[in-house]
Amino acid sequence: MDTGLSGKKVIVFGGASGIGQAVVRAFRSEEAEVFVADLEPGDETSSAKVDISDLAEVTTVVNQIGDKQGGIDHVVCAAAKGSGKFGFPFWNLEPGDWKSVLEVSLIGSVNVAHACQPWLCEGGNDGKTLLYFTSVAGQIGSQTDPPYSAAKAGVINFTQCAAKDFAAYGVRVNALSPGMVKTDLNESVWASSQQGIPEENRLSYEDWADLKIKSIAPLARWQEPEEFGAMAVYLASFHAKNITGQIINIDGGQVMKG
Ligand SMILES: NC(=O)c1ccc[n+]([C@@H]2O[C@H](COP(=O)([O-])OP(=O)(O)OC[C@H]3O[C@@H](n4cnc5c(N)ncnc54)[C@H](O)[C@@H]3O)[C@@H](O)[C@H]2O)c1
Repeated sequence: MDTGLSGKKVIVFGGASGIGQAVVRAFRSEEAEVFVADLEPGDETSSAKVDISDLAEVTTVVNQIGDKQGGIDHVVCAAAKGSGKFGFPFWNLEPGDWKSVLEVSLIGSVNVAHACQPWLCEGGNDGKTLLYFTSVAGQIGSQTDPPYSAAKAGVINFTQCAAKDFAAYGVRVNALSPGMVKTDLNESVWASSQQGIPEENRLSYEDWADLKIKSIAPLARWQEPEEFGAMAVYLASFHAKNITGQIINIDGGQVMKG
């Protein structure tokens, strides 16, 4: 399938690991020019260190990348964090545990939109896109980590607002919603779920994951990072020119909506 993405300029926030890294690979396989912006960029050559919760930092990095690449066509924000605690019941967490989760996972997403807006609106109606990552947790009131669930619900709402505001400029905004993907973030959910359980009763990551996926996903299988890379590329391509404001679940059937 010709995606028309060859030579397009892409920034992936949170592109140094997990799902974001697979998105980077997918755009590069379409010959797009991809820049990674991440808190821990690693050895990636086309990359910058940035904390998305800091608007000034995000704006500086976006403008540097835009100037260097000669524009920005597609933006993906995969960066997020959880509380690192098991939030079931919610009073296992302190209200103060919410702040940093919301600052990264929700306000960080908004910062990315503000910093990229002038670049995305520039150049007329030429198929630019912004793609977020939300979660099943933001759609079903998942009890595992309430601030993370709330942040992801906020990302859904902001995706819809931004899709409406950007539509006049031909810019499309969507969000992908994973169910369960084996990444550092997912493993941190397992680690927090075992807090307070006597050592002899704790589950290994593999056993916990196996039980969980069978109990919550009708298709009973994990999602792979590459599935999100393929969908991100499709949504950025002209084939998806009429898709905006949508939350696309790739979750083995966990969330089904009419
Ligand atoms: N893995 C899953 O099962 C799952 C499920 C639902 C939703 N998601 C969502 O998918 C997206 C990708 O998740 P993942 O599992 O690949 O996570 P991950 O932890 O493997 O990768 C996240 C990346 O974001 C970066 N990052 C974290 N905080 C940052 C900050 N403040 N500024 C800049 N970069 C920062 C990290 O360094 C890392 O490279 C996230 O938005 C996550 O909420 C994942």
